[in-house]
Amino acid sequence: MTNNQEVLLTIESQDYALVFQTNPARHLKHIYFGKKLAHAGDYSAIKAQLKYDHFNGVDEDHFNSVYTPSGTWNTANTALELKHHDGNESTELEYVKHSTKEIEKDVVLTTIELVDPLYGTVVNLYLKVYQAFNVFEQWTSILNKEPDTVQMKKYASANLYFRNREFHLTQFHGTWAREMNDHTQVLSYGTKVLETKLGTRANLYNPPSFQLSFDGPATEDTGKVMLANLAWSGNFRFEFEIERYGNLRLIAGINPYASNYALKAGEEFETPHLIYTYSETGIATATIQMHRWARQHRIWNGHGERLTLLNNWEATYFDFDEDKLVDLFKGAKEIGVDCFLLDDGWFANKYPRNDDTTGLGDWEVNKTKLPNGIPFLVKAAKAEGVKFGIWIEPEMVNPKSALYENHLDWVIRQPERPEVYFRNQLVLDLSNPEVQDYVFSIFNNLLTENPEIAYVKWDCNAVIYNAYSAYLEREGIPQSHLYVAYVKGLYEVLKRVRAGHPKVPIMLCSGGGGRVDYGALQYYTEFWPSDNTSPIDRVFMHWNYSKLYPANTLCAHVTDWDKTASLKFRTDVACMGKLGFDIDVSKLTTAEKSFCQIALKDYNRYKHTVWNGDVYRIQHPDELHFASFLFVDPSQKQAVLFAYMVTNRFEINYSFEPVKLKGLDPMKKYQVKELNIFPETETALDESVILSGDLLMKAGFNPQVSSERKSVVVLISEAD
Ligand code: GLA
Repeated sequence: MTNNQEVLLTIESQDYALVFQTNPARHLKHIYFGKKLAHAGDYSAIKAQLKYDHFNGVDEDHFNSVYTPSGTWNTANTALELKHHDGNESTELEYVKHSTKEIEKDVVLTTIELVDPLYGTVVNLYLKVYQAFNVFEQWTSILNKEPDTVQMKKYASANLYFRNREFHLTQFHGTWAREMNDHTQVLSYGTKVLETKLGTRANLYNPPSFQLSFDGPATEDTGKVMLANLAWSGNFRFEFEIERYGNLRLIAGINPYASNYALKAGEEFETPHLIYTYSETGIATATIQMHRWARQHRIWNGHGERLTLLNNWEATYFDFDEDKLVDLFKGAKEIGVDCFLLDDGWFANKYPRNDDTTGLGDWEVNKTKLPNGIPFLVKAAKAEGVKFGIWIEPEMVNPKSALYENHLDWVIRQPERPEVYFRNQLVLDLSNPEVQDYVFSIFNNLLTENPEIAYVKWDCNAVIYNAYSAYLEREGIPQSHLYVAYVKGLYEVLKRVRAGHPKVPIMLCSGGGGRVDYGALQYYTEFWPSDNTSPIDRVFMHWNYSKLYPANTLCAHVTDWDKTASLKFRTDVACMGKLGFDIDVSKLTTAEKSFCQIALKDYNRYKHTVWNGDVYRIQHPDELHFASFLFVDPSQKQAVLFAYMVTNRFEINYSFEPVKLKGLDPMKKYQVKELNIFPETETALDESVILSGDLLMKAGFNPQVSSERKSVVVLISEAD
């Protein structure tokens, strides 16, 4: 409490603080976000420094409300829009109480209760701070205390406020095979909105993530910057509103589009969680904080092992049989991956899955291609010394399938309108518990019947068109629940999957990188960033994906998508993520085969540094046509440098500047060793020198990239 009985609420991480204070009307306001103050007593002096206009007796400090209701005093973007049981559309929220609890070591949860004095609606704001990582997780719950249903028109997860100048918003955008591009703009007065209405594949056009820098642009090493992600695999909306004082209001949550939610008397609704990390020392620090947090607290088996694999998608597409697969198993063994992953095309009999127009939904093994079923394949792979993994796309259906014929009411479609397809398919209605059971059973049956299945790729290729659920209709639940109920239904299935099958790694795929967020990654170990595996494109994508997601989640396969790049270049880029191959090994030359073996052996030496170390994005591929990334083990004993030339122009055809490394111990001595060396070629590096961390970071190191050496991988290890 301050002297005038206003409540002061300080939420601190290791380095930063978020401070709220009530005003005399018991409205809770943001009064500070930034570096922690040295003296805890000083927080109470902040508010007096903030001078707002007071026109006509109206309290104008509403821009900084911590959760902005609608229909009363507010005129800015709202966090909450309710229609009360009696039809009244005004809401007021007053601070009632808060509590703070350390729920595990260094993780502190603050719960703040706000109540509408007229209707009793309870809004609880939750702020969980992972102190050591400077990561904040924020969400809200809304409890209906009225005698009848309340219509929720908008129900944001978080409502933040920043008093800075010059806000640089970096948004991500893309489409199939062009995922995760970035675009930065300086925000100006008014509202910029980022959102998706695709229902299932948010990441496809507008990923639910952003980077925001304050008081000017941030660089990797300097500036104030936030990285954020909404942990929700459905429709989301971020509103960035610059108000009349030039400050930024941020409202983040489920997209209110077509999503009115009828909250019954006594019912409580919990929003998805907004995850954000903040740094005043540049983007690299924010990334490292996010990755360390994600591995520790979010990603399924975040610190655990991952499997290298050989996938057959590009090698065969739908055209395979048992013999072909067994040959591919041999290839997998020969190059030395851990696992073989059987992709699309192994199922359906009435409408065999021989291309992407038929069979999706019919999860019995195709008897023509695989007469001996999955058990035979698991055994045959084992005999070759590799594990066996399998592709499923359980949320979807082709209209040409037995599932569609037998369970039309399980399909999201408008009964009276023509169907609209995305990749010839439709989405199953996961708001329906029966459909949830079915989707769960696909996974569960496969794994129960074949307990040795060691890997699953879970795909999701269509967006929701014609949003209509026969189930909701039957149950008397409004159709406007569908988008939200779909995601909640999906998470219910994934919870059951994980309860029954905690160990199996699951790749999150969505026709490339259509679904990537920290809601889904609670259940998945990794994700497929894009069907585009051209190494140059992947360098750009890796730059942006790596801001939010650690390398152990970023699946990267060597394929023939871009044959203009050498096998070495393709492999070197893939080694920056979770390595896999999607090629027909029997078609490789002897030298190429031994190169793959060398690369896999090398990868096994440093993979933990890539997966669990800190990543430094050093040279952006757009600058000077060279790109480099460095991964540093937390012990600073090992680091791996990946350096690429990303142009064919002669103008710049060798790396004349050294790369200034980061994150090493300046006092340690390091030796360098080039890895991934193609047979019958030699390193251009002098590996006999011992270099100090200090020198490597201040003066730098030249990996000798050139038009003859377009990609270089260097292991940097503490000298004995
Ligand atoms: C999607 C995936 C691919 C592959 C195909 C199979 O497009 O992104 O990797 O699995 O589906 O149909």
